[in-house]
Amino acid sequence: MEPEFWIRRWEEGQTGFHLDEVNRHLQDHWPVLALPADCGVFVPLCGKSLDLLWLRGQGHAVLGVEISPRAVREFFADNGLEPRHETRPPFEAWHLDGLEILQGDFFDLQPIDTAGCGGLWDRASLIALPPEMRPRYAAQLTRLMPRGSRGLLVTLEYPQEEMQGPPFSVTGEEVRRLYAEGWRIEPLARHDVLAEQPRFRERGLTRLEECVWRLERV
Ligand SMILES: C[S@@+](CC[C@H](N)C(=O)[O-])C[C@H]1O[C@@H](n2cnc3c(N)ncnc32)[C@H](O)[C@@H]1O
Repeated sequence: MEPEFWIRRWEEGQTGFHLDEVNRHLQDHWPVLALPADCGVFVPLCGKSLDLLWLRGQGHAVLGVEISPRAVREFFADNGLEPRHETRPPFEAWHLDGLEILQGDFFDLQPIDTAGCGGLWDRASLIALPPEMRPRYAAQLTRLMPRGSRGLLVTLEYPQEEMQGPPFSVTGEEVRRLYAEGWRIEPLARHDVLAEQPRFRERGLTRLEECVWRLERV
């Protein structure tokens, strides 16, 4: 999925992945990471997720990256926030009280940008990408996250032949392969979510599971 695909989706309002509430897996599992409040958290491909605000509410400085200018605008407008803006090539940076969103391409980030991030929240990022882009995504995340950082990854699993992504099915085996080097990885939970997702049932899915992983950069 090239950036233009996502920019167009936001412009056309095709954002079924966006949740109007804080992600429950984030709230349920974040405490197991036992991250100190003063450690920064990186949220790749953040959209206009309310998770950014929840993480900020836990005391963390939060850094998101998002390609769509509209998503970033809507995030601040929807939440009645008035951020400061700065051009920091190749990004447009928007920040307010410990919360920063870099509008631009995740693949343009440098390790210096995420050096203060000891935490990671990755929901619907890996599964947004087609198979051929995932190794590049994982390699870039490995490059960006400081050693010792830890976080949560949420993936979806379903019979890929029943539906075209995104979201794509990413199997546990693939997750383990992608993060085999440089990460300690552990499955935390697996939930059957088909009944809660009528739009995917209508698209023909017979099985849909959400998996939560703990990742630690070693
Ligand atoms: C499936 S959505 C998930 C958004 C968010 N994580 C959430 O939980 O709502 C994927 C997001 O990644 C953004 N995106 C896709 N490719 C990107 C890239 N290369 N750099 C930054 N953002 C990107 C899209 O615009 C979209 O908002």
